[in-house]
Amino acid sequence: MSNVAAFELADAPKEIEINPVTINIGAEIGGVDLTKPLSSEAVKEIRAALLKWKVIFFHDQHLDHDQHLDFARQFGELTIGHAVFGNVEDYPEIYSIAKHRKANRYKTGAKMEKPWTGWHADITAAINPPAASILRGVNIPPYGGDTQFTNLVAAYNGLSDTLRGFVDTLRGVHKFAPPQGAESSEDYKEMLRTRGQESEHPLVRVHPETGERALYVSPSFLKEVVGLAPRESEQLLELLWEHAVRQDYTVRFRWKAGDIAFWDNRSTCHLAPSDIFQIDADRQLYRVTLVGDVPVGVDGRESSSLLGQPILAYAAE
Ligand code: SIN
Repeated sequence: MSNVAAFELADAPKEIEINPVTINIGAEIGGVDLTKPLSSEAVKEIRAALLKWKVIFFHDQHLDHDQHLDFARQFGELTIGHAVFGNVEDYPEIYSIAKHRKANRYKTGAKMEKPWTGWHADITAAINPPAASILRGVNIPPYGGDTQFTNLVAAYNGLSDTLRGFVDTLRGVHKFAPPQGAESSEDYKEMLRTRGQESEHPLVRVHPETGERALYVSPSFLKEVVGLAPRESEQLLELLWEHAVRQDYTVRFRWKAGDIAFWDNRSTCHLAPSDIFQIDADRQLYRVTLVGDVPVGVDGRESSSLLGQPILAYAAE
């Protein structure tokens, strides 16, 4: 049975083409030129496609930084490039995702190098993780470098009734893990002091727009389940993480220069590639994120912040 959301536009789309790529997640969107302002109908249809398919892909768009920002602003307010790891010089709302991640700077001008992580939703250590992310491919290796996405609503629906009932009641602590060997470095301590983030979120999040329940288990950030013994927490999380990335909930995206992936960060996790380090080719993408709200659990309880500030809309200082 398909787990694709019941959320639909009342009518078939008029302005865009939607071509699903798997049963449960991912659709290619055609018929639009993202270098130009979209009609309000096209914005509505793209938003509906995003909510339904969780990640949508556009091909042959070749946006520059300004066009990327203009496209994204039609869907919500933008955050700073990355609330912890900085942004591209002169473009505060753009975060560079390059093979060696050296292009971002934080406010102080310090260069930030971020390690590559495993499956995650973006910045779930924050009290209000970004609602959505829009990633644009500029320099793409000839092979390798794919990104995978998983549908956390489908994953939730795929659990047994009994396990769903249990995880509905749980909350977990999300935080950044220090890069290997960095814990005691002055840079890392400074990062924690000035812009560290840690939050307690429900393990099942009710989507603010669709009302769907998502298994909110961002593996790279979620460190423990509140109220369980360490071994219980570890084993339950292993079970949920393995389940959340089952092949039938996922899609794998093969990039070309000019492609864009736009994902709902409230109902998906994604996996950046690690294979690119095995070939001598560069990979350069740029990402912007839309401001998100505070997650709410099945019981109506909001997440709580343990460290750090909400990620607000970027405002020039
Ligand atoms: C990301 O985690 O936002 C980047 C994904 C990628 O590099 O494929």
